[in-house]
Amino acid sequence: MVTKYTFGVPPMTEAVVVPQPSFSGMPTPFSVKEEEGKRVFSYTLGKDDLVFGLGEQMRGINKRGWIYDNWNTDDPIITEGRTSLYGAHNFILVFGEKTFGAFFDSPARVVFDIGYTDPDELTVTCGDVDVYIVEGDSAKEIVREFRRIIGSSYVPPKWAFGFAQSKWGYKNEDDVRAVWKGYRENGLPLDMIYMDIDYMQDYMDFTVNKERFPDLTALAAELKADGVYLVPIIDAAVKAKEGYHVYDDGLEKGYFCTDAEGKPFTVAVWPGESVLPDVLNPAARLWFGAQYKVLLDQGIEGFWNDMNEPAIFYSKDRLREAIVYAAGELGKDLDTDAYGALTGKFYTLANSMEDYNSFYHNSVDGRHVHAEVHNLYGYNMTRGASEYFDIYEPDRRYLLFSRSSYIGHHRYAGIWTGDNASWWSHLKLNLAMMPGLDMCGFLFAGADLGGHGGNTTEELMLRWLAFGIFAPLFRNHATQYARDQECYAFKNIGAFRSILNMRYAILPYLYSEFVKCAKSGEMLSRPVVFDYPEDARARTVEDQLMIGASIMIAPVMEQNAKGRYVYVPARMKMIRLKKGGNAFSERIVEKGDYYIEVPLDEIVFFLKEGAVMPLAKPAKNVASLDETNLRWLKFIEEPVEYEICRDDGFTKSSLSNFEKIKVEP
Ligand code: NOJ
Repeated sequence: MVTKYTFGVPPMTEAVVVPQPSFSGMPTPFSVKEEEGKRVFSYTLGKDDLVFGLGEQMRGINKRGWIYDNWNTDDPIITEGRTSLYGAHNFILVFGEKTFGAFFDSPARVVFDIGYTDPDELTVTCGDVDVYIVEGDSAKEIVREFRRIIGSSYVPPKWAFGFAQSKWGYKNEDDVRAVWKGYRENGLPLDMIYMDIDYMQDYMDFTVNKERFPDLTALAAELKADGVYLVPIIDAAVKAKEGYHVYDDGLEKGYFCTDAEGKPFTVAVWPGESVLPDVLNPAARLWFGAQYKVLLDQGIEGFWNDMNEPAIFYSKDRLREAIVYAAGELGKDLDTDAYGALTGKFYTLANSMEDYNSFYHNSVDGRHVHAEVHNLYGYNMTRGASEYFDIYEPDRRYLLFSRSSYIGHHRYAGIWTGDNASWWSHLKLNLAMMPGLDMCGFLFAGADLGGHGGNTTEELMLRWLAFGIFAPLFRNHATQYARDQECYAFKNIGAFRSILNMRYAILPYLYSEFVKCAKSGEMLSRPVVFDYPEDARARTVEDQLMIGASIMIAPVMEQNAKGRYVYVPARMKMIRLKKGGNAFSERIVEKGDYYIEVPLDEIVFFLKEGAVMPLAKPAKNVASLDETNLRWLKFIEEPVEYEICRDDGFTKSSLSNFEKIKVEP
């Protein structure tokens, strides 16, 4: 059951698609008061209450014990003290004395203090807001109910579940071909190669640099014939250059964000001086989406949308102010404070509140200063593309995901979690985020495997991939400043082959479970306690997840570890996949703690009692996966039915094609 309470006049977000009657008054079980023009919602947590949710956010699966500032932010230094990331997913689920969900639907800043100021208090501070209190008999039911009102999740084409290689730094066709060759010559599976900003002409969206990519259509076709899709990046900011058709056309139509006087607001991002499409204006949103046609027409079927918090390197006015200030300091003997003030002028240029308070949108519900609707930008940029795809080829599913997002976005596309680093702690963070994202509808999600910033190692890369095979978005991506981290760049290529092949072996399971969950609102990746709510130990498990209806995973996430301890919350069958999924061993384990050894080229997971899981033979890509001769992992005494998705892999209309397969013990 959902109860909606409205406070003030919050800007429209279109996060919720099943309209709810609105009440005023106390949003039980929260109390509410006004403080400094903000609303503060409070709830006293029980001693052992856990708090889940918040999608892409810092810290563990249980969010209790930290403060989270939901304000979409482009900042690649993701250390433990951070409070804001690229997405704002304002749904929490309190699990304990009273179990309930709460969604704070406000597109401006929303701060969740979950036992940070006072270990027993949960407070949520925001401006005008719609609060949805979600009740149900279990955590799973509450999530189902929440997902019902926000609408079903995006499903990409099936090839998007294959393995993807990406790197900022593939500059031309030769670089792309070298990656393709590197995978194929080493017998490593591959379904996608990503193109980062260097494919464009001067970083102008929807252009292709002809010297570097003389014939993108031919290249895309040649790769696709081998089951490899090219996936270009699209940035939010449009270069402000006369003669550039996107700029000229958008300017003429009045589709860019404007300053207080109504003139286009200019910012600097990759292309230098740029403007921001006003994607909160439905006409401008669709106009921006229609620009993707130029790449669709060249055979491109997938895109990733970047820098859409929106990221601002600096605005002209503020840069001028900083330079004038610096000039005034020239020749002076600066003490620490003066030096700090000088450098601060430059450090604070990027993504400044002053800029976010200086430009406006023509939204469906009127003119808004950006700061009031900030967290909706990436969502609507991405929605525009999705809306256009529906016109371009209505029944086809395209790959689309974005860096910045808000709840509602999950209906149109997936997300990746931005610029993580090649740290073991970020592998753990990747795992911890998955159930939170899932609760908010973001099923097609994943992190940059191996880490985006800094240098990865062979061991970290392998362990990260071994976790990543269970994440819907399975992409190795890194910055241009990092060492090469393509799987063939390491010594032990055999281990990489084994792990990547396992992804393809489990793909019939992962894909079928994904499609079922996207439709039903069930969670694909869950905290262990969601399946074992009565188990006190399960409450504390932070490094294992339930994936789909049948299995629990327990990845190794420590440097030099030969294995790990696993908490098994009920009788299960331990499965050890070997040799790329071509072989496996199994053993029944009772509830308890186990130390499991996990070599770098193997994967261990746990099959629930009464469950089965299909396994395919590994393949070089999704297109060549043989799903007719499936093997079955089973822990059953009676025959059971397993529903496997038999869609064509790319149309929306075929998504409901399921085959019920009877599996004998
Ligand atoms: C920032 C993105 O998060 C990253 O993935 C990308 O490589 C760079 N922008 C360059 O486009």
